[in-house]
Amino acid sequence: MAAPEPGPSLVLHGLTAAASPAGAGAPLRGSDLGRVDVQAPAAIAIVEGRIAAVGPPDDVLRVHAGLERVDCRGAVAIPGLVDCHTHPAFGGDRAAEFDLRAQGADYERIHASGGGIRSTVEATRRLGATGLADATARHLGWMAANGTTTAEGKSGYGLDHDTELASLAAVAGPHPIATVPTYLGAHSVPPEFGSADEYLDHAIAEVLPQAAERAEHADVFLERGAFSAEQADRYLRAAMGLGLVARLHGDQFTESGAIPLAIELGARSVDHLEATGPAGVAALAASDVAGVVLPVAALYLRRTQPPARALVDEGAVVALATDFNPGSAFCDSLPVVMTLACTVLGMTPGEALSACTVNAAWVLGRADRIGRLAPGYDADIVLLDAPDWRHVAYHLAGRDIAAVYARGRRVAGAQR
Ligand code: NIG
Ligand code: FE
Repeated sequence: MAAPEPGPSLVLHGLTAAASPAGAGAPLRGSDLGRVDVQAPAAIAIVEGRIAAVGPPDDVLRVHAGLERVDCRGAVAIPGLVDCHTHPAFGGDRAAEFDLRAQGADYERIHASGGGIRSTVEATRRLGATGLADATARHLGWMAANGTTTAEGKSGYGLDHDTELASLAAVAGPHPIATVPTYLGAHSVPPEFGSADEYLDHAIAEVLPQAAERAEHADVFLERGAFSAEQADRYLRAAMGLGLVARLHGDQFTESGAIPLAIELGARSVDHLEATGPAGVAALAASDVAGVVLPVAALYLRRTQPPARALVDEGAVVALATDFNPGSAFCDSLPVVMTLACTVLGMTPGEALSACTVNAAWVLGRADRIGRLAPGYDADIVLLDAPDWRHVAYHLAGRDIAAVYARGRRVAGAQR
């Protein structure tokens, strides 16, 4: 693979403040999650796409006097947001299903009767590789406009050899923002297979070896009506044997054994957790498996929200993500997720910021490079036209995002 081109060099000055999760380690747990360092006023020096300095404007401008200057006119800087759970590789839409659910139809019943995920599989297969690449790029562009500078992206709406590999290629890009491809081969059983086991035999033997060359993570939907704990165990062990990091969709509707399995396997995360009870919270808190909470999915499906407050208080590694997908969470905005975190999940703005930056970066295995405004980190920066960094969560829907820089390049927002 060719070495990436060095990024630009510049100084962002005229910042009212630069706010970043406190400390240097990752992941952040318990009371550390909510601590935010604020440098006010601030300037940020960027050298070849990496942050070289964050500090008082006079100091930064003196040391980096030769660099191009960009006047940020009073904006507030926060780290580029990290979306550690998304499904951007799909065709079609599910507006009709959204309408039906608004009238009371049940998501699991729609899935069981061949709609839901399966209808998106049909639409995704119809797109072909080029259409799928275009659709995925469009979805990632929406995320970038909302401040996301790194997004995990899952396959899982192809479920055949060619469409799964095309999905992973579509996520890999290149794109203006960074991406992390995940093979979600075990998302649903496609119609051409008679049973989940028969499909998994095929996916493990025929798709996984090539998927493992393109993906970093493997994911499974462990749930009644999808895959059992035994099936998830078999699929994830095969994926880990090929070097993939294990992730699980777990406890979305029922506690089906995702947390004990994740801990046994040494998985990176269990995502959803709407149905997780006190024992699951305690088990996660005592482990190194992250709990990724997805408040938009619970909102869309009118489920109880995941026990995020208890997870943080008991010391679990907590990250937040959109779960962007056409069915349960058609939302590409981490600022919306942060607002939900601060309203329905009982988290503070500081906790929400760290859960969408440092801890999400840790879930993606990149906490040494992204998730903070600090020297040596990628110059992934969101500028807010607001008097205080907390407006990213306070002002619903990321209304204050004025510009987004990914590795020093402006990928969204007006020229400043
Ligand atoms: O994370 N739960 C499984 N998968 C997705 C939704 C898939 C869909 O409805 O298309 C999720 O919510
Ligand atoms: Fe998901």
